[in-house]
Amino acid sequence: MKRNRIRDILSQTQAGGIVTVAGWARTVRSGKGVTFIEINDGSCLANIQAVAETAAHDASLGKISTGASLRVSGRLVDSPGAGQRFEIAADEIALIGAAPPDYPLQKKRHSFEFLREIAHLRPRTNTFGAVLRVRSAMAQAVHEFFRNHGFLYIHTPIITTSDCEGAGEMFSVSASGGEAAGTAHFFGKPAGLTVSGQLEAELVCMALGDVYTFGPTFRAENSNTSRHLSEFWMVEPEMAFAGLDEDARLAEDFLKHLFRAVLAECPEDMAFFDKWVFNGAIERLEKIASSGFSRVTYTEAVGLLEKSGEKFEFAPAWGADLQSEHERYLAERVFGGPVIVTDYPKDIKAFYMKLNDDGRTVRAMDVLVPGVGEIIGGSQREDDLEKLEGRLRSIGLDTAPYWWYLDTRRYGSAPHAGFGLGFERAVQFVTGMQNIRDTIPFPRVPRHADF
Ligand code: 4AD
Repeated sequence: MKRNRIRDILSQTQAGGIVTVAGWARTVRSGKGVTFIEINDGSCLANIQAVAETAAHDASLGKISTGASLRVSGRLVDSPGAGQRFEIAADEIALIGAAPPDYPLQKKRHSFEFLREIAHLRPRTNTFGAVLRVRSAMAQAVHEFFRNHGFLYIHTPIITTSDCEGAGEMFSVSASGGEAAGTAHFFGKPAGLTVSGQLEAELVCMALGDVYTFGPTFRAENSNTSRHLSEFWMVEPEMAFAGLDEDARLAEDFLKHLFRAVLAECPEDMAFFDKWVFNGAIERLEKIASSGFSRVTYTEAVGLLEKSGEKFEFAPAWGADLQSEHERYLAERVFGGPVIVTDYPKDIKAFYMKLNDDGRTVRAMDVLVPGVGEIIGGSQREDDLEKLEGRLRSIGLDTAPYWWYLDTRRYGSAPHAGFGLGFERAVQFVTGMQNIRDTIPFPRVPRHADF
Protein backbone atom coordinates (compact mmCIF):
# COMPACT_ATOMS: atom_id res chain seq x y z
CA MET A 1 0.00 0.00 0.00
CA LYS A 2 1.62 3.26 -1.10
CA ARG A 3 1.80 5.72 1.73
CA ASN A 4 3.78 8.68 2.98
CA ARG A 5 5.13 8.58 6.52
CA ILE A 6 3.85 11.41 8.69
CA ARG A 7 7.40 12.08 9.83
CA ASP A 8 8.47 12.75 6.23
CA ILE A 9 5.41 14.86 5.49
CA LEU A 10 5.98 17.08 8.52
CA SER A 11 9.62 17.62 7.63
CA GLN A 12 8.66 19.13 4.26
CA THR A 13 9.40 22.82 4.02
CA GLN A 14 6.11 23.79 2.40
CA ALA A 15 2.60 22.58 1.78
CA GLY A 16 1.41 21.33 -1.60
CA GLY A 17 1.08 18.04 -3.40
CA ILE A 18 -1.08 15.02 -2.79
CA VAL A 19 -0.18 12.79 0.15
CA THR A 20 -1.50 9.47 1.37
CA VAL A 21 -1.19 8.48 5.00
CA ALA A 22 -2.21 5.28 6.72
CA GLY A 23 -2.42 5.04 10.48
CA TRP A 24 -4.71 4.98 13.49
CA ALA A 25 -7.25 7.62 14.48
CA ARG A 26 -6.34 9.29 17.75
CA THR A 27 -9.40 11.54 17.85
CA VAL A 28 -12.34 12.22 15.61
CA ARG A 29 -14.49 15.32 16.03
CA SER A 30 -17.08 17.17 14.00
CA GLY A 31 -17.28 20.86 13.24
CA LYS A 32 -19.65 22.78 10.96
CA GLY A 33 -19.99 20.49 7.96
CA VAL A 34 -16.47 19.11 8.42
CA THR A 35 -14.91 16.27 10.36
CA PHE A 36 -11.39 16.44 11.86
CA ILE A 37 -9.41 13.24 12.30
CA GLU A 38 -6.07 13.20 14.10
CA ILE A 39 -4.00 10.38 12.61
CA ASN A 40 -0.82 8.84 14.01
CA ASP A 41 1.28 6.30 12.15
CA GLY A 42 4.06 5.80 14.71
CA SER A 43 6.75 7.34 12.52
CA CYS A 44 6.88 10.32 14.88
CA LEU A 45 5.19 11.72 17.94
CA ALA A 46 3.10 14.23 16.02
CA ASN A 47 -0.26 13.40 14.50
CA ILE A 48 -1.46 14.83 11.25
CA GLN A 49 -4.96 16.19 11.00
CA ALA A 50 -7.17 15.23 8.11
CA VAL A 51 -10.09 17.53 7.40
CA ALA A 52 -12.99 16.05 5.47
CA GLU A 53 -16.27 17.46 4.19
CA THR A 54 -18.68 15.47 6.29
CA ALA A 55 -21.40 15.29 3.63
CA ALA A 56 -19.02 14.02 0.95
CA HIS A 57 -17.71 11.14 3.08
CA ASP A 58 -20.69 10.34 5.21
CA ALA A 59 -20.61 6.61 4.72
CA SER A 60 -17.00 6.05 5.76
CA LEU A 61 -16.74 8.79 8.39
CA GLY A 62 -19.57 7.37 10.46
CA LYS A 63 -17.52 4.27 11.25
CA ILE A 64 -14.23 5.99 12.01
CA SER A 65 -13.67 6.45 15.71
CA THR A 66 -10.70 6.57 18.08
CA GLY A 67 -8.46 3.54 17.51
CA ALA A 68 -9.65 2.73 13.99
CA SER A 69 -7.12 2.26 11.24
CA LEU A 70 -7.62 4.23 8.08
CA ARG A 71 -6.07 5.57 4.94
CA VAL A 72 -6.49 9.16 3.85
CA SER A 73 -5.41 10.86 0.63
CA GLY A 74 -5.60 14.54 -0.13
CA ARG A 75 -3.76 17.77 -0.66
CA LEU A 76 -1.25 18.89 1.96
CA VAL A 77 -2.27 22.42 2.94
CA ASP A 78 -1.16 24.96 5.53
CA SER A 79 -3.21 24.51 8.64
CA PRO A 80 -5.13 27.46 10.03
CA GLY A 81 -5.26 25.69 13.40
CA ALA A 82 -2.77 26.37 16.18
CA GLY A 83 -0.04 23.83 16.96
CA GLN A 84 0.37 22.29 13.52
CA ARG A 85 1.85 23.56 10.29
CA PHE A 86 0.12 21.30 7.81
CA GLU A 87 -3.07 19.34 7.50
CA ILE A 88 -4.58 17.13 4.83
CA ALA A 89 -7.63 18.34 2.91
CA ALA A 90 -8.99 14.84 2.49
CA ASP A 91 -10.32 13.66 -0.88
CA GLU A 92 -10.43 9.97 -0.12
CA ILE A 93 -10.97 8.32 3.23
CA ALA A 94 -10.97 4.57 3.64
CA LEU A 95 -11.71 2.83 6.88
CA ILE A 96 -9.38 -0.17 7.14
CA GLY A 97 -10.22 -1.60 10.56
CA ALA A 98 -12.94 -0.26 12.82
CA ALA A 99 -12.48 0.09 16.60
CA PRO A 100 -15.68 -0.36 18.59
CA PRO A 101 -16.41 1.98 21.52
CA ASP A 102 -14.82 -0.42 24.03
CA TYR A 103 -11.36 0.45 22.60
CA PRO A 104 -9.34 0.82 25.82
CA LEU A 105 -7.24 3.80 24.75
CA GLN A 106 -9.85 6.51 24.57
CA LYS A 107 -8.28 9.96 24.71
CA LYS A 108 -7.35 10.54 28.33
CA ARG A 109 -4.25 9.99 30.40
CA HIS A 110 -3.76 6.44 31.58
CA SER A 111 -1.48 5.32 34.39
CA PHE A 112 1.65 3.38 33.43
CA GLU A 113 0.42 0.55 35.67
CA PHE A 114 -2.80 0.28 33.66
CA LEU A 115 -0.90 0.47 30.38
CA ARG A 116 1.29 -2.47 31.44
CA GLU A 117 -1.90 -4.54 31.63
CA ILE A 118 -2.62 -3.68 28.01
CA ALA A 119 0.96 -3.87 26.76
CA HIS A 120 -0.36 -5.15 23.43
CA LEU A 121 -1.95 -1.75 22.79
CA ARG A 122 0.35 0.61 24.64
CA PRO A 123 2.71 1.16 21.68
CA ARG A 124 -0.17 3.26 20.35
CA THR A 125 0.23 5.83 23.14
CA ASN A 126 2.43 8.92 22.87
CA THR A 127 4.71 7.80 25.70
CA PHE A 128 5.38 4.30 24.42
CA GLY A 129 5.74 5.43 20.84
CA ALA A 130 8.41 7.83 22.07
CA VAL A 131 10.11 5.18 24.25
CA LEU A 132 10.28 2.73 21.37
CA ARG A 133 11.61 5.28 18.89
CA VAL A 134 14.30 6.36 21.37
CA ARG A 135 15.12 2.70 22.06
CA SER A 136 15.50 2.04 18.36
CA ALA A 137 17.75 5.08 17.88
CA MET A 138 19.91 3.93 20.81
CA ALA A 139 20.20 0.40 19.44
CA GLN A 140 21.36 1.74 16.08
CA ALA A 141 23.80 4.04 17.88
CA VAL A 142 25.31 1.05 19.69
CA HIS A 143 26.28 -0.54 16.41
CA GLU A 144 27.42 2.77 14.97
CA PHE A 145 29.75 3.41 17.91
CA PHE A 146 31.46 0.04 17.86
CA ARG A 147 31.71 -0.04 14.11
CA ASN A 148 33.39 3.38 14.17
CA HIS A 149 35.80 2.10 16.82
CA GLY A 150 36.79 -1.00 14.86
CA PHE A 151 34.96 -3.56 17.03
CA LEU A 152 33.55 -6.69 15.41
CA TYR A 153 29.95 -7.61 16.15
CA ILE A 154 29.73 -11.21 17.30
CA HIS A 155 26.81 -13.41 18.32
CA THR A 156 27.14 -15.35 21.54
CA PRO A 157 24.87 -18.26 22.47
CA ILE A 158 21.62 -17.84 24.35
CA ILE A 159 21.54 -21.45 25.55
CA THR A 160 24.50 -22.22 27.75
CA THR A 161 25.75 -24.72 30.31
CA SER A 162 27.83 -22.22 32.33
CA ASP A 163 26.66 -19.51 34.67
CA CYS A 164 28.91 -16.60 33.74
CA GLU A 165 28.24 -14.46 36.77
CA GLY A 166 28.29 -17.48 39.08
CA ALA A 167 25.28 -16.11 40.90
CA GLY A 168 23.00 -19.08 40.28
CA GLU A 169 20.38 -16.99 38.56
CA MET A 170 19.91 -19.09 35.44
CA PHE A 171 16.61 -20.21 33.99
CA SER A 172 16.86 -23.84 33.03
CA VAL A 173 16.24 -25.09 29.52
CA SER A 174 14.87 -28.51 28.72
CA ALA A 175 12.86 -30.11 25.95
CA SER A 176 9.23 -30.51 26.85
CA GLY A 177 8.52 -34.17 27.29
CA GLY A 178 12.26 -34.80 27.38
CA GLU A 179 12.24 -36.80 30.57
CA ALA A 180 9.42 -38.99 29.37
CA ALA A 181 11.43 -39.70 26.23
CA GLY A 182 14.34 -40.82 28.40
CA THR A 183 16.58 -37.82 27.74
CA ALA A 184 16.65 -35.96 31.01
CA HIS A 185 19.06 -33.40 29.62
CA PHE A 186 18.59 -32.43 26.03
CA PHE A 187 22.16 -31.09 25.90
CA GLY A 188 23.63 -33.96 27.89
CA LYS A 189 23.87 -31.86 31.03
CA PRO A 190 21.85 -29.12 32.71
CA ALA A 191 21.52 -26.09 30.45
CA GLY A 192 20.05 -22.67 30.90
CA LEU A 193 19.47 -19.28 29.36
CA THR A 194 22.56 -17.12 29.41
CA VAL A 195 23.03 -14.41 32.04
CA SER A 196 25.76 -12.79 29.96
CA GLY A 197 27.62 -13.34 26.69
CA GLN A 198 30.91 -12.32 28.27
CA LEU A 199 32.73 -15.64 28.59
CA GLU A 200 32.20 -16.48 24.92
CA ALA A 201 32.97 -12.88 23.91
CA GLU A 202 36.31 -13.28 25.70
CA LEU A 203 37.11 -16.39 23.69
CA VAL A 204 36.58 -14.58 20.42
CA CYS A 205 38.36 -11.48 21.72
CA MET A 206 41.46 -13.62 22.23
CA ALA A 207 41.51 -14.16 18.48
CA LEU A 208 39.85 -11.22 16.76
CA GLY A 209 40.75 -8.43 19.14
CA ASP A 210 38.03 -5.92 19.94
CA VAL A 211 34.56 -7.44 19.73
CA TYR A 212 31.09 -6.81 21.12
CA THR A 213 27.85 -8.61 21.54
CA PHE A 214 24.38 -7.12 21.92
CA GLY A 215 21.67 -9.57 22.77
CA PRO A 216 19.07 -10.75 25.23
CA THR A 217 20.16 -12.02 28.64
CA PHE A 218 18.11 -13.68 31.34
CA ARG A 219 18.19 -13.66 35.12
CA ALA A 220 16.00 -15.65 37.43
CA GLU A 221 16.50 -13.28 40.35
CA ASN A 222 13.36 -12.70 42.29
CA SER A 223 13.78 -8.92 42.40
CA ASN A 224 10.59 -7.00 41.98
CA THR A 225 12.21 -3.60 41.62
CA SER A 226 11.93 -0.73 39.18
CA ARG A 227 15.42 -1.63 37.84
CA HIS A 228 15.22 -5.38 37.28
CA LEU A 229 13.85 -7.47 34.44
CA SER A 230 14.01 -11.24 34.03
CA GLU A 231 14.82 -10.73 30.35
CA PHE A 232 16.89 -7.75 29.34
CA TRP A 233 19.31 -6.73 26.61
CA MET A 234 22.97 -6.25 27.27
CA VAL A 235 25.71 -4.63 25.21
CA GLU A 236 29.04 -6.31 26.00
CA PRO A 237 32.27 -5.10 24.42
CA GLU A 238 35.51 -6.96 25.07
CA MET A 239 38.84 -5.25 24.33
CA ALA A 240 42.10 -7.08 23.76
CA PHE A 241 45.45 -5.88 25.13
CA ALA A 242 43.63 -3.45 27.38
CA GLY A 243 43.21 -2.81 31.09
CA LEU A 244 40.75 -1.12 33.39
CA ASP A 245 41.66 2.42 32.36
CA GLU A 246 40.93 1.79 28.71
CA ASP A 247 37.75 0.00 29.75
CA ALA A 248 36.53 2.98 31.75
CA ARG A 249 37.37 5.36 28.92
CA LEU A 250 35.50 3.17 26.45
CA ALA A 251 32.44 3.09 28.73
CA GLU A 252 32.42 6.86 29.04
CA ASP A 253 32.87 7.51 25.31
CA PHE A 254 30.23 4.92 24.52
CA LEU A 255 27.59 6.38 26.83
CA LYS A 256 28.25 9.89 25.56
CA HIS A 257 27.85 8.67 22.00
CA LEU A 258 24.48 7.11 22.85
CA PHE A 259 23.25 10.27 24.54
CA ARG A 260 24.37 12.53 21.70
CA ALA A 261 22.75 10.25 19.15
CA VAL A 262 19.38 10.40 20.92
CA LEU A 263 19.56 14.18 21.26
CA ALA A 264 20.35 14.51 17.57
CA GLU A 265 17.90 11.95 16.24
CA CYS A 266 14.93 12.19 18.57
CA PRO A 267 14.53 15.87 19.51
CA GLU A 268 10.75 15.73 19.41
CA ASP A 269 10.51 12.61 21.57
CA MET A 270 13.07 13.99 24.01
CA ALA A 271 11.09 17.24 24.29
CA PHE A 272 8.08 15.08 25.15
CA PHE A 273 9.96 13.28 27.96
CA ASP A 274 11.32 16.57 29.18
CA LYS A 275 7.83 18.03 29.45
CA TRP A 276 5.76 15.06 30.64
CA VAL A 277 8.05 12.49 32.21
CA PHE A 278 11.23 13.99 33.61
CA ASN A 279 11.71 17.71 33.72
CA GLY A 280 15.30 18.48 32.73
CA ALA A 281 15.88 15.28 30.74
CA ILE A 282 17.43 17.12 27.78
CA GLU A 283 19.67 19.38 29.83
CA ARG A 284 20.91 16.40 31.82
CA LEU A 285 21.97 14.53 28.68
CA GLU A 286 23.55 17.61 27.12
CA LYS A 287 25.57 18.25 30.24
CA ILE A 288 26.80 14.68 30.49
CA ALA A 289 27.66 14.52 26.79
CA SER A 290 30.02 17.45 27.23
CA SER A 291 31.69 16.81 30.60
CA GLY A 292 33.94 14.12 32.09
CA PHE A 293 32.67 11.29 34.29
CA SER A 294 33.95 11.28 37.88
CA ARG A 295 36.09 8.39 39.10
CA VAL A 296 36.43 7.00 42.57
CA THR A 297 37.59 3.73 44.07
CA TYR A 298 35.15 1.57 45.98
CA THR A 299 37.15 2.16 49.16
CA GLU A 300 36.91 5.93 48.71
CA ALA A 301 33.22 5.67 47.85
CA VAL A 302 32.44 3.74 51.02
CA GLY A 303 34.37 6.38 52.98
CA LEU A 304 32.29 9.13 51.37
CA LEU A 305 29.07 7.31 52.19
CA GLU A 306 30.10 6.67 55.79
CA LYS A 307 31.00 10.32 56.25
CA SER A 308 27.86 11.62 54.53
CA GLY A 309 25.68 11.65 57.63
CA GLU A 310 22.85 10.40 55.42
CA LYS A 311 20.41 7.88 56.91
CA PHE A 312 20.53 4.87 54.59
CA GLU A 313 18.30 1.84 54.91
CA PHE A 314 21.48 -0.28 54.68
CA ALA A 315 24.53 1.17 56.43
CA PRO A 316 27.47 1.34 54.02
CA ALA A 317 30.37 -0.88 55.04
CA TRP A 318 33.60 -1.96 53.36
CA GLY A 319 33.11 -5.45 52.01
CA ALA A 320 29.38 -5.14 51.37
CA ASP A 321 27.97 -4.49 47.92
CA LEU A 322 26.77 -0.98 47.21
CA GLN A 323 22.99 -0.83 47.45
CA SER A 324 20.95 1.08 44.92
CA GLU A 325 20.41 3.86 47.49
CA HIS A 326 24.20 4.19 47.87
CA GLU A 327 24.77 4.22 44.13
CA ARG A 328 22.19 6.92 43.62
CA TYR A 329 23.50 8.99 46.50
CA LEU A 330 26.99 8.92 45.00
CA ALA A 331 25.81 9.85 41.50
CA GLU A 332 23.16 12.36 42.54
CA ARG A 333 24.47 14.05 45.67
CA VAL A 334 28.21 13.53 45.82
CA PHE A 335 29.22 13.76 42.15
CA GLY A 336 26.14 15.30 40.52
CA GLY A 337 26.51 13.11 37.43
CA PRO A 338 27.89 9.80 36.21
CA VAL A 339 30.62 8.26 38.35
CA ILE A 340 32.81 5.25 37.70
CA VAL A 341 33.52 3.25 40.83
CA THR A 342 36.55 0.94 40.57
CA ASP A 343 38.45 -1.70 42.55
CA TYR A 344 35.73 -3.51 44.48
CA PRO A 345 36.45 -6.17 47.12
CA LYS A 346 37.02 -9.49 45.40
CA ASP A 347 34.48 -11.33 47.51
CA ILE A 348 31.50 -9.39 46.14
CA LYS A 349 32.50 -9.67 42.49
CA ALA A 350 32.57 -12.45 39.89
CA PHE A 351 35.45 -14.93 39.67
CA TYR A 352 36.82 -13.69 36.35
CA MET A 353 37.90 -10.23 37.52
CA LYS A 354 41.61 -9.49 37.74
CA LEU A 355 43.05 -9.49 41.22
CA ASN A 356 44.83 -6.30 42.31
CA ASP A 357 48.25 -6.45 43.96
CA ASP A 358 46.64 -5.83 47.37
CA GLY A 359 45.09 -9.33 47.11
CA ARG A 360 41.77 -7.96 48.43
CA THR A 361 40.30 -6.01 45.55
CA VAL A 362 39.71 -6.66 41.87
CA ARG A 363 39.89 -4.48 38.77
CA ALA A 364 36.16 -3.99 38.56
CA MET A 365 34.27 -0.92 37.48
CA ASP A 366 30.64 0.05 37.74
CA VAL A 367 29.22 3.13 36.07
CA LEU A 368 26.57 4.79 38.23
CA VAL A 369 24.17 7.45 36.99
CA PRO A 370 21.62 9.68 38.73
CA GLY A 371 18.11 8.29 38.97
CA VAL A 372 19.02 4.72 38.05
CA GLY A 373 22.26 3.79 39.84
CA GLU A 374 24.38 1.13 38.13
CA ILE A 375 23.98 0.97 34.37
CA ILE A 376 27.32 -0.60 33.48
CA GLY A 377 29.28 -3.35 35.18
CA GLY A 378 32.68 -4.36 33.87
CA SER A 379 36.25 -5.29 34.67
CA GLN A 380 39.68 -6.19 33.51
CA ARG A 381 39.72 -9.98 33.29
CA GLU A 382 42.09 -12.26 35.16
CA ASP A 383 44.56 -13.39 32.51
CA ASP A 384 46.86 -15.36 34.83
CA LEU A 385 45.97 -19.05 34.67
CA GLU A 386 47.06 -19.93 38.20
CA LYS A 387 45.31 -17.01 39.80
CA LEU A 388 42.14 -17.71 37.87
CA GLU A 389 42.14 -21.38 38.88
CA GLY A 390 42.83 -20.35 42.46
CA ARG A 391 39.94 -17.94 42.37
CA LEU A 392 37.52 -20.59 41.07
CA ARG A 393 38.61 -23.03 43.76
CA SER A 394 38.42 -20.47 46.53
CA ILE A 395 34.77 -19.85 45.81
CA GLY A 396 34.08 -23.56 45.71
CA LEU A 397 33.78 -23.96 41.93
CA ASP A 398 35.20 -26.93 40.11
CA THR A 399 37.70 -25.82 37.47
CA ALA A 400 36.97 -28.74 35.12
CA PRO A 401 33.78 -27.33 33.54
CA TYR A 402 35.70 -24.14 32.71
CA TRP A 403 38.47 -25.96 30.79
CA TRP A 404 37.69 -24.06 27.61
CA TYR A 405 37.73 -20.69 29.38
CA LEU A 406 40.97 -21.56 31.14
CA ASP A 407 42.54 -22.63 27.84
CA THR A 408 42.57 -18.99 26.68
CA ARG A 409 44.83 -18.31 29.68
CA ARG A 410 46.90 -21.39 28.95
CA TYR A 411 47.56 -20.55 25.31
CA GLY A 412 48.58 -17.02 24.39
CA SER A 413 46.92 -15.30 27.29
CA ALA A 414 46.73 -11.52 27.07
CA PRO A 415 45.30 -8.71 29.15
CA HIS A 416 41.75 -7.86 28.20
CA ALA A 417 38.82 -5.99 29.64
CA GLY A 418 35.17 -5.36 28.94
CA PHE A 419 31.84 -4.36 30.35
CA GLY A 420 28.10 -4.89 30.10
CA LEU A 421 25.61 -2.08 29.62
CA GLY A 422 22.08 -2.88 30.73
CA PHE A 423 20.30 -1.55 27.67
CA GLU A 424 16.95 -0.98 29.41
CA ARG A 425 18.63 0.88 32.25
CA ALA A 426 20.22 3.12 29.64
CA VAL A 427 16.81 3.74 28.05
CA GLN A 428 15.44 4.40 31.52
CA PHE A 429 18.10 6.99 32.19
CA VAL A 430 17.70 8.73 28.83
CA THR A 431 13.91 8.96 28.93
CA GLY A 432 13.52 9.47 32.69
CA MET A 433 10.94 6.65 32.81
CA GLN A 434 10.63 5.57 36.44
CA ASN A 435 10.10 1.87 35.90
CA ILE A 436 12.28 -0.36 33.75
CA ARG A 437 9.14 -2.29 32.72
CA ASP A 438 8.22 0.74 30.66
CA THR A 439 11.41 0.73 28.58
CA ILE A 440 10.90 -2.59 26.77
CA PRO A 441 7.83 -3.45 24.72
CA PHE A 442 6.89 -6.63 26.56
CA PRO A 443 8.57 -6.87 29.97
CA ARG A 444 9.26 -10.19 31.66
CA VAL A 445 9.39 -10.08 35.45
CA PRO A 446 8.55 -12.60 38.16
CA ARG A 447 4.97 -13.78 37.67
CA HIS A 448 4.52 -11.80 34.43
CA ALA A 449 5.31 -13.02 30.94
CA ASP A 450 2.11 -12.12 29.13
CA PHE A 451 1.96 -10.95 25.54
O1 4AD B 1 27.01 -6.20 36.32
P1 4AD B 1 26.50 -7.34 35.48
O2 4AD B 1 25.93 -8.51 36.16
O3 4AD B 1 27.73 -7.70 34.55
C1 4AD B 1 27.82 -8.78 33.72
O4 4AD B 1 26.92 -9.51 33.44
C2 4AD B 1 29.16 -8.87 33.04
N1 4AD B 1 29.29 -10.23 32.50
C3 4AD B 1 29.25 -7.82 31.98
C4 4AD B 1 30.59 -7.81 31.29
O5 4AD B 1 31.59 -7.46 31.89
N2 4AD B 1 30.63 -8.18 30.01
O6 4AD B 1 25.43 -6.76 34.47
C5 4AD B 1 25.74 -5.71 33.58
C6 4AD B 1 24.62 -4.70 33.54
C7 4AD B 1 24.33 -4.03 34.87
O7 4AD B 1 25.19 -2.95 35.09
C8 4AD B 1 22.90 -3.58 34.68
O8 4AD B 1 22.85 -2.37 33.97
C9 4AD B 1 22.32 -4.66 33.80
O9 4AD B 1 23.40 -5.34 33.19
N3 4AD B 1 21.51 -5.61 34.56
C10 4AD B 1 20.17 -5.66 34.51
N4 4AD B 1 19.28 -4.91 33.84
C11 4AD B 1 17.98 -5.22 33.99
N5 4AD B 1 17.52 -6.21 34.76
C12 4AD B 1 18.38 -7.00 35.46
N6 4AD B 1 17.91 -8.00 36.20
C13 4AD B 1 19.77 -6.73 35.35
N7 4AD B 1 20.88 -7.28 35.88
C14 4AD B 1 21.93 -6.59 35.38
